[in-house]
Amino acid sequence: MNPEDVKSVGVVGCGIMGSGIAEVAAKVGMKVVVVEVDEEARDRGRQAIERSLARAVERGKLEESARDEVLDRIIGSTQMSDLADSDLVVEAVTEDLETKLEVFRRLDELVRPEVVLATNTSSMPIADLAAVTKRPEKVLGMHFFNPPPVMKLLEVVRALSTSDETIAFARAVGERLGKTTVLAKDRAGFIVNMLLLPYLNSAIRMLDEGFATREDIDAGVTLGLGHPMGPLTLLDLIGLDTALHVSNVLYDEFKDPIYAPPTLLKRMVSAGYLGRKSGKGFYDY
Ligand code: CAA
Repeated sequence: MNPEDVKSVGVVGCGIMGSGIAEVAAKVGMKVVVVEVDEEARDRGRQAIERSLARAVERGKLEESARDEVLDRIIGSTQMSDLADSDLVVEAVTEDLETKLEVFRRLDELVRPEVVLATNTSSMPIADLAAVTKRPEKVLGMHFFNPPPVMKLLEVVRALSTSDETIAFARAVGERLGKTTVLAKDRAGFIVNMLLLPYLNSAIRMLDEGFATREDIDAGVTLGLGHPMGPLTLLDLIGLDTALHVSNVLYDEFKDPIYAPPTLLKRMVSAGYLGRKSGKGFYDY
């Protein structure tokens, strides 16, 4: 399929990433079907999209009339079978390999054989997902960044089996979505998380050792390095459970202590302090 012929995108999962990806695609005129496990999760996802679009209107990025059109283009569903007519599917379910494998098996049965199946994973081996389908050359990573409507990068990730044609297709679709694409290999962390996680974990250790306060660590990075957010604020945005998971995967893959998750991060996740989404992380929300 030609990238310009993509009219309808399927998104599996309507959490932070799935809802953002659905919004990005609908904003450039594509129809979107986004599937969640139950009605509650589907409705929560739609509310997240509505909030984000309201922010875009407030900040002068979107006309009110355009907001309504964007919302009209997004259909929430609880049935995977509603993805059958998609011209591209992006999976953005929880970072659990078994769950993702099951989604890819189902998608491979449901979606037309010429359609590309992408995963938004930030850490899982894409080769494993490709291997459970009959179209391994059409499976790749399309890794968006949080929050997807704002962040301009898309990491396109080539698994061993991904064809050149699929890579070119994903890069062109990424550009249609308003993103700049970079190409990465299928190994844990790709480009960005491989650099990001050692830095975030160092900030957690610095806090835990009492070396500096959370405010001073964050101010050091925003004011001294010009980042939009300090590392502890960013961890709260990403979700501490996600950061822990990515860190564990990187450590498992490379066995290099720079990726080992700090004890404080593990304990915070055990305590349910997951960042913004749970109301408490390094800061209170
Ligand atoms: N829709 C469209 N545009 C929006 C928007 C929305 N919902 N919300 C904000 N914006 C735009 C604003 O208009 C503004 O644009 P301009 O610069 O053109 O004026 C810009 O985004 C920044 O907005 P604000 O200054 O109002 O700041 P904010 O507090 O709303 O936004 C932020 C914060 C965009 C998240 C910013 O702090 C940021 O970029 N933080 C870093 C995020 C980051 O590093 N993400 C990567 C996470 S790692 C990851 O995702 C990988 C992984 O796998 C773990």
